[in-house]
Amino acid sequence: MTDHVTAEREAAAAAAAAMVEPGMRIGLGTGRTALAFVAALGERVAGGLSLPAAVATSRRTEDAAKAAGLAICDMMADGAPTHVDLAIDGADEVDGNLCLIKGGGASLLREKIVAHMAARFVVLADAAKRVDTLGAFPLPVEVVPFGWTATAGQIEAALGVAPVLRRTAEGVLITDNGNYVLDCPLGRIDDPAATAAALALPGVVEHGLFITEADVALIGTAGRVETLTRAK
Ligand code: A5P
Repeated sequence: MTDHVTAEREAAAAAAAAMVEPGMRIGLGTGRTALAFVAALGERVAGGLSLPAAVATSRRTEDAAKAAGLAICDMMADGAPTHVDLAIDGADEVDGNLCLIKGGGASLLREKIVAHMAARFVVLADAAKRVDTLGAFPLPVEVVPFGWTATAGQIEAALGVAPVLRRTAEGVLITDNGNYVLDCPLGRIDDPAATAAALALPGVVEHGLFITEADVALIGTAGRVETLTRAK
């Protein structure tokens, strides 16, 4: 990874950390950019910022957040929070309408749940993630393992491309929710809403298109952070 990309991520993360006010419940995303935010927020908490327990979108983020000194909610518990004041997450692609592809880190389901809990959802990205048209990044789709080959066939019939089951060096990738991820190499997505609608299929738990969720994008670029705000 080149240093300028790390610097862009860290600049966006620092800008997001500056948005956090005392007492806010924060949603913590997943991935390298989100972890840069966790580190920046941890520094603010170490400096005296007081926050209620945060909501983490993956086990990896939960572990990193605890290591950074942040308290984390048990989201499986009775009485778990239903609302966060500000959710901060990364993305794989961001277009000019603040539509996103997410799920490169396989955490799209929890990320979408937390984005929908948030009064404000801010997405962070390095400059290379800003695209004119979504879809060069294969669209992640979380599916239940039962009948996944049939679900993959239905996705292929709906979208016209063959999904690829995501694997790791150890074998098939299993999400934090016990599911599989199918990556769909669409090339370009001209109508994100139509693609999302086509994925309303049995066996599909969630897809990585975030069309309406993001309120603000902070894009780290050389020397500054560009702010994109959703048009009302
Ligand atoms: C996790 O499932 C993803 O949605 C990540 O937010 C996305 O892949 C961006 O990750 P990086 O910040 O590591 O590029």
